[in-house]
Amino acid sequence: MGELDALLSPFSIKSMTVPNRAVLPPMGTGLANPDGTASDALLAYMKRQAQGGVGLLISEITAIATNGLVLKKQLAAWDDAFLPGLKQLAAVMHSGGGKAAMQLHHGGRESAYMLKKGMAIGPSPLPSLIYGHPPREMTLQDIDEIVAAYGSAAARARAAGFDAVEIHGAHGYLITQFLSAISNQRSDEFGGDFKSRARFLFEVVRSVRKSVGDDFPVLLRISAEEYIKNGYTVDDVLTILPDLIGSGVDIVHASVGTHGSPAGITSAPPEFDVGFNVWRAEKIKKAGPIPVIAVGRFNDPRPANDVIARGEADLVAFGRQALCDPDYLLKARQGRYEDIRRCIACNQGCIEREMFEGKSVRCAINPETGMEIVRPAGPAANPRKVWIVGSGPAGLTAAFEAKRLGHDVTVFEKEAQTGGNIRYACKAPHKEIYLDWIEFLAKQVKDAGVPIQMKTPVTEPMLTEDRPDVVIVATGGEKLVPRIDGMDQPHVFDAWQILGETVNPAKAILVVGGGLIGMETACFAAARGSDVTLIEQLPSSPVPKFTSHGYSLHKYLRQAGALLRFGCTLKSITPDGVVIECDGQEERLSSFDQVVIAVGMKPRNELKAFLAEKNIRHVVVGDALKVRRIMEATEEGARAAWEL
Ligand SMILES: Cc1cc2nc3c(=O)[nH]c(=O)nc-3n(C[C@H](O)[C@H](O)[C@H](O)COP(=O)(O)OP(=O)(O)OC[C@H]3O[C@@H](n4cnc5c(N)ncnc54)[C@H](O)[C@@H]3O)c2cc1C
Ligand SMILES: Cc1cc2nc3c(=O)[nH]c(=O)nc-3n(C[C@H](O)[C@H](O)[C@H](O)COP(=O)(O)O)c2cc1C
Repeated sequence: MGELDALLSPFSIKSMTVPNRAVLPPMGTGLANPDGTASDALLAYMKRQAQGGVGLLISEITAIATNGLVLKKQLAAWDDAFLPGLKQLAAVMHSGGGKAAMQLHHGGRESAYMLKKGMAIGPSPLPSLIYGHPPREMTLQDIDEIVAAYGSAAARARAAGFDAVEIHGAHGYLITQFLSAISNQRSDEFGGDFKSRARFLFEVVRSVRKSVGDDFPVLLRISAEEYIKNGYTVDDVLTILPDLIGSGVDIVHASVGTHGSPAGITSAPPEFDVGFNVWRAEKIKKAGPIPVIAVGRFNDPRPANDVIARGEADLVAFGRQALCDPDYLLKARQGRYEDIRRCIACNQGCIEREMFEGKSVRCAINPETGMEIVRPAGPAANPRKVWIVGSGPAGLTAAFEAKRLGHDVTVFEKEAQTGGNIRYACKAPHKEIYLDWIEFLAKQVKDAGVPIQMKTPVTEPMLTEDRPDVVIVATGGEKLVPRIDGMDQPHVFDAWQILGETVNPAKAILVVGGGLIGMETACFAAARGSDVTLIEQLPSSPVPKFTSHGYSLHKYLRQAGALLRFGCTLKSITPDGVVIECDGQEERLSSFDQVVIAVGMKPRNELKAFLAEKNIRHVVVGDALKVRRIMEATEEGARAAWEL
């Protein structure tokens, strides 16, 4: 038996046989044209995904009605006018030998744009948990129209050449809104107990089944558990399974969570293990019995194979992993596991970028995703001699891309290790995976044949002597040191000393600064048994709780009993304590063994002036340009290489 036999075995359901059991789950990209038709960017993205050879690809949320749109640029299927683009999409989805399904979607009260226009609809006029505005309560006529619209869109999917449809019944959109007692308080036959609240879903399934015929596979994506206070549970879902199967569902795609679920569990952060959600799929599979797709944090084909081999699920979806490395299955087939770029579940370039920044899909650690029509294939017409200064995310990404395009690349790193600030960013609980990623990237760069000169700061004489064609300045940021009395006390350290483990956190520590670095330092120390107090001069935390990472940090510190004080500024440090000012009042605190400074960073780009003066072509990228995040560092590093 090969180690991927189960995952690579075909699976048949009605008229569809998929060549293997790896699934691209539906992922909204924001790449469609503003009118909902398939754009060149969306087609190129999907083609790239198909080349990875997964067995089943499911389209992004595809709108079945105008009042259900949730993205500014969302694929749509509510009219025959969309058919030409949908045909092109189905064709590219088939281009790697896999099968194609279309996800049928209506956002209900979670459509920000429709809420703003007063056009959003929902089972009851109860405000969206995210946007705070209520939708219009659907009349029985609205229900009939929307049920019919699901059916018509499904027929279009079939006409366009898709092999199956998936009804999106998950994640807090219209169907979940009917299922959930939190959003459905109707007194007619569409409200009441769980089974009555599921009536809308049964009608949608029947409408879709009627449109596509008996032999066409109909998948249902459902949040197997709402995962929210007073939400429905997987046992509730089991009670409606016979009716779902009877209405025409062939496969259940068992996701989890809804809008407002804590910790962003639907696209779960690293604190959730690979496969954490399989048990819910398995419960549904056994109770049905019905084939299921399991999903949640898979970033390696081997555990997915084992889930299938053990009979816990029939297929496994790899969502963010496919954004991170669409070739993960190809590489696994070739036994090249060490070449798979594994998703770190940071959510920065994908779901949070779309939801909180209103931008199209990317990946923080794969600069190709969402940029398929921008990224040059190479080789470059004019290969150049390129020096890259710094081996953090920006420098290493630039190096990999520049080498791929055929340039003559050398990386210089002043420290003894590659990775820049990721060596510190990987230290908070659950972030070890960030270190795996940066070590992977450094190895890829070296394996591609790029020399990395360690312990070699680039200096002005070097540049004068050996003048490169282009310099990519990826020198990152340097720590800010506050100018206050007492900084020279022996018990004063900085975040890098604690996270870099050159200094052990003491029993009682005061962390000064509540940004990401301060919060992570506080978590790191708390995890090692310190009693942590953190002060931040801003009136509230600069680390937002609405991101999955921010949520995890706040939760961790709360559970560890850390004291977080906002609106407090450090004034001075004395041998036996500190003076702080909170809301205009001075306070003396004397119970700390250590004061740890984490007040942020500023760009380190001292080479820039010299390069300009000597007229050496250069580009400054990542934190060296402006201190930000991994997403910007990799994006700018890649772009610098593409534009050489
Ligand atoms: C504790 C901590 C936690 C963080 N957590 C996150 C997070 O969760 N998510 C996120 O997105 N971001 C996080 N960040 C920020 C993230 O690490 C940075 O945005 C990112 O590393 C920037 O990449 P970069 O390549 O621009 O710079 P850096 O990573 O700083 O790399 C710059 C490199 O250049 C080298 N260098 C400098 N000058 C020279 C020279 N003259 N010659 C040769 N080499 C030189 C440096 O030694 C360094 O290796 C965190 C940062 C810290 C400190
Ligand atoms: C960028 C992005 C967009 C998503 N859009 C959809 C969607 O359109 N429909 C859907 O059912 N789920 C959507 N999801 C959820 C994913 O399909 C998947 O269930 C989730 O990311 C968990 O799988 P993973 O851990 O393998 O990423 C989206 C997730 C991401 C990251």
